[in-house]
Amino acid sequence: MNKYLKVDDWCIIEEGFDPKNHRSSESIFSLGNGRMGQRANFEEKYSGNTLQGTYIGGVYYTDKTRVGWWKNGYPEYFAKVLNAPYWNGIYVEINNEQLDLGVCKVRDFTRILNMKEGYLERSFIAIMPNGNEVKVNARRFISMANKEIAAIRYALTPLNFSGDILFTSSIDGDIINEDANYNEKFWDVLETDALNGEAYLRSQTKKTNFQVGVGIKYAITLGGNEYPVLEDETIIDQNYVANKVSVFVEKGKQVCFYKYIAVLSSMNHNVSDLLPNAKILVNDACSKGFDTLLEEHRLVWKEIWEHSDIVIEGDVEAQQGIRFNIFQLKQTYTGDDARLNIGPKGFTGEKYGGSTYWDTEAYCVPFYLSTADAKVTRNLLIYRYKQLDKAIENGQKLGFTDGAALYPMVTMNGEECHNEWEITFEEIHRNGAIAYAIYRYINYTGDDFYLEEYGLEVLTAIARFWAQRATFSEARKKYVILGVTGPNEYENNVNNNWYTNKIATWCMKYAIECLEKVKSRSTDRFLELVEKLKLDYKAETRKWQEIIDQMYFPEEKELGIFLQQDGYMDKEQILAADLNPEIRPLNQHWSWDRILRSCFIKQADVLQGIYFFEKEYDDACIKRNFDFYESRTVHESSLSPCVHSILAARIGDMTKAYNLYLRTARLDLDDYNKEAHEGLHITSMAGTWMSIVEGFGGMRIKEGILSFQPAIPESWKSYSFKVMYRKNILNVRVQHGKVIIFNEEGGVMELAVYGKKYKIVENSKIEI
Ligand code: BGC
Repeated sequence: MNKYLKVDDWCIIEEGFDPKNHRSSESIFSLGNGRMGQRANFEEKYSGNTLQGTYIGGVYYTDKTRVGWWKNGYPEYFAKVLNAPYWNGIYVEINNEQLDLGVCKVRDFTRILNMKEGYLERSFIAIMPNGNEVKVNARRFISMANKEIAAIRYALTPLNFSGDILFTSSIDGDIINEDANYNEKFWDVLETDALNGEAYLRSQTKKTNFQVGVGIKYAITLGGNEYPVLEDETIIDQNYVANKVSVFVEKGKQVCFYKYIAVLSSMNHNVSDLLPNAKILVNDACSKGFDTLLEEHRLVWKEIWEHSDIVIEGDVEAQQGIRFNIFQLKQTYTGDDARLNIGPKGFTGEKYGGSTYWDTEAYCVPFYLSTADAKVTRNLLIYRYKQLDKAIENGQKLGFTDGAALYPMVTMNGEECHNEWEITFEEIHRNGAIAYAIYRYINYTGDDFYLEEYGLEVLTAIARFWAQRATFSEARKKYVILGVTGPNEYENNVNNNWYTNKIATWCMKYAIECLEKVKSRSTDRFLELVEKLKLDYKAETRKWQEIIDQMYFPEEKELGIFLQQDGYMDKEQILAADLNPEIRPLNQHWSWDRILRSCFIKQADVLQGIYFFEKEYDDACIKRNFDFYESRTVHESSLSPCVHSILAARIGDMTKAYNLYLRTARLDLDDYNKEAHEGLHITSMAGTWMSIVEGFGGMRIKEGILSFQPAIPESWKSYSFKVMYRKNILNVRVQHGKVIIFNEEGGVMELAVYGKKYKIVENSKIEI
């Protein structure tokens, strides 16, 4: 853990500059708008340890695979969201010396992420080696109102001198990814240009040929008045453009350097329009001015918070944690472009390549369903629909036939990018999460015509995969699934992972149910699909049913629990609480084989299944499994604590639920796993939201009716959250001994609280 940030309702605050924390802060204070994002790099030069990172959604590079020992079937490349041309730089030179917090003495340093209004602000006093003292206040944002615009206001006051301040405002196209497999550069700069006050750079990714056009324009005020620049010095290099301008500033007077930035990509513009359009945008932005742009941006955030805020009274740490999670999720994915998805690190770092994982379907879907229009989640589903052909191809590469699809573990464009055999080939449960997301979407929105349009094709292809992947064991007289890795990646190549067997059978069951539904209500469409999918409806569904009926599920009968996999009880059974805290996280202290041989569980596995299929199990069964597996779980995946927290709340263990909640909500803020410097755990942040709404609030959908089973952590005075459910918007407030649900919008709504049904008319509330 590393707790160095101040606790506050709406802001993340760092006081005092400690270079040791800088890389973590660069992640934590990141900004984004769904289309692009940036780590909280300093505007001025910084010679200390930094990970410069500017990313544009969907713009990636196929970095040639690097492995120790090649295995047949490995993908050729790993797709990486690219570190893109860097537009943040406002370098400051005074008396031939660069302002650089790596070498200056720094006083009164504060960095604030204002989550309510969506901007980053930093202020400090720097004493430069040449004795000059300056006060700086820098504020910036990436516009939510215009997704191609960002703006910076850099205010500087000389404190003990009057003199020339030389600003250099640049775009740097000479960019590397820290995680490049072969230290190659991924960009070719095609065009650079600069004129008085403006500069432009157009760059193209190698191999994938995405183009990005960046334009910058500046304006200056001195002592609050406009400061016209008749002619600046322009620098046009092969990979770099800049405007240099010197301003004489008297001691105590403030000079403000405003930088407007436009970032456009060939995903949305013709390549020949990139720079002309950047010019228009950046000029428009400059004419509007910083304050107007910020106001437009603030209004979008206001609207977002209106629908997604969670208010916790009586626990500021928990409050800050949930808002931070919601803020980062909404910065990462806004759902208006079905080509984009939610990388585990969003725009905050390079690890995981910024690609799509099962995290989206298993963890993020409930959050977007309840806090945004249904089309946002629909776009996430359509993303996978569009990659179905590639998933079928991927299945073919691994020997599956007849339209069986295996979705990749990691992908950008539908092709598998992951290259560790135990995950690439074996962590096949991911296929199930994609089907489960379709179920969740339909169950939540009621939009089951999604099946006719897109869903059924995906479900059929996934069911076909499981039918081929399961094999019949003569010894057991049951179907088995051999050689897999379950969600718990601290076990590889196991047989009959309970979760995998469970999700596999569920997928086939759900596919049969959906096929029947479409067959009976849209015969023409059904026949069309039969034709398109070359579906032998009777024979194939018969086979699926046979596997469903005869699937083997490992159990430990004496303890009354489902067994994570065959042979799990052969392991020495030690509890996580008995581990010496100094050797945690295990993955940073133990050799890999030692982890594999141990009973320790990285993340919810059996419990993931119980979470998904909770309806099938009674309270006692859930409790037995929870008690057994939770005590062996080390939570070394960020995705773990949230599921555990929800189940702890489900069985009434609110102390455990609360502690696990704090762990998920403050995972990055308090750096539990000592990895915030690599980027934030964006996808698990949706799990934090689930911990409150599904965990403490007990929200479920039961037979089409939204139901709640609220409980409240002892230390909280109250909490409230909003959910958008079909036509309605509800505000749910939970206090000790009281639940108040207000129906804000959408007409009369039927719902259930603690198992009892209520009807609430619009604009009224119930109190229980
Ligand atoms: C987890 C996976 C997850 C991935 C990306 C891994 O540590 O074990 O379940 O998909 O991180 O978040």
